[in-house]
Amino acid sequence: MTQAANALPAAESAVFDLPDEAATAALAGRLAAQAQRGDVYALFGDLGAGKTSFARAFINALPGGPEDVPSPTFTLVQTYRRGALEIWHVDLYRLGGPEESLELGMEEGYDQAAMLIEWPERLGALLPETRLDLAFAYATDGGRRATLTPRGAWRASSADWLKDFASDGKA
Ligand SMILES: Nc1ncnc2c1ncn2[C@@H]1O[C@H](COP(=O)(O)OP(=O)(O)OP(=O)(O)O)[C@@H](O)[C@H]1O
Ligand SMILES: [Mg+2]
Repeated sequence: MTQAANALPAAESAVFDLPDEAATAALAGRLAAQAQRGDVYALFGDLGAGKTSFARAFINALPGGPEDVPSPTFTLVQTYRRGALEIWHVDLYRLGGPEESLELGMEEGYDQAAMLIEWPERLGALLPETRLDLAFAYATDGGRRATLTPRGAWRASSADWLKDFASDGKA
């Protein structure tokens, strides 16, 4: 069967098994090594699914760390600088509504920083279209599983990278 020549590629996901926090940290380290200003990492997942663990490892994988990376549960935003890169770690669990993100200065963050966003669904239509989605879920072995999906114009080079490293061997 032939595909229509103009068919758009489906969004490709890559699954990573993360049996322990060290595995989460290894994934975070690989992504951090490619981080750029303007990146949006949307960290989905239930309470305790491992979003903060990922963000903490991501920040501390960058040169200039390690330092204490508290959960921004109450402050909503914590900012870091690693060399030339600014990183915002955001937890929107307590956000009243999408428009409150403007009061937090999120627009400035999208412009200047790499954004690690927990509970990104709280942003509704204000969640940037170009981003990397990371959906964390509980695995049966006590570990976690992360499904990564590049969205919008997320750079193709990292989509290839995801394919190579994914636990499921496909993209
Ligand atoms: N890959 C993993 N395997 C096993 N345990 C993990 C893994 N990643 C994180 N954890 C553990 O899960 C617990 C919760 O992690 P974390 O605080 O990162 O979750 P969270 O998604 O940020 O939760 P919240 O929604 O409350 O912000 C921690 O005790 C952490 O050590
Ligand atoms: Mg958290």
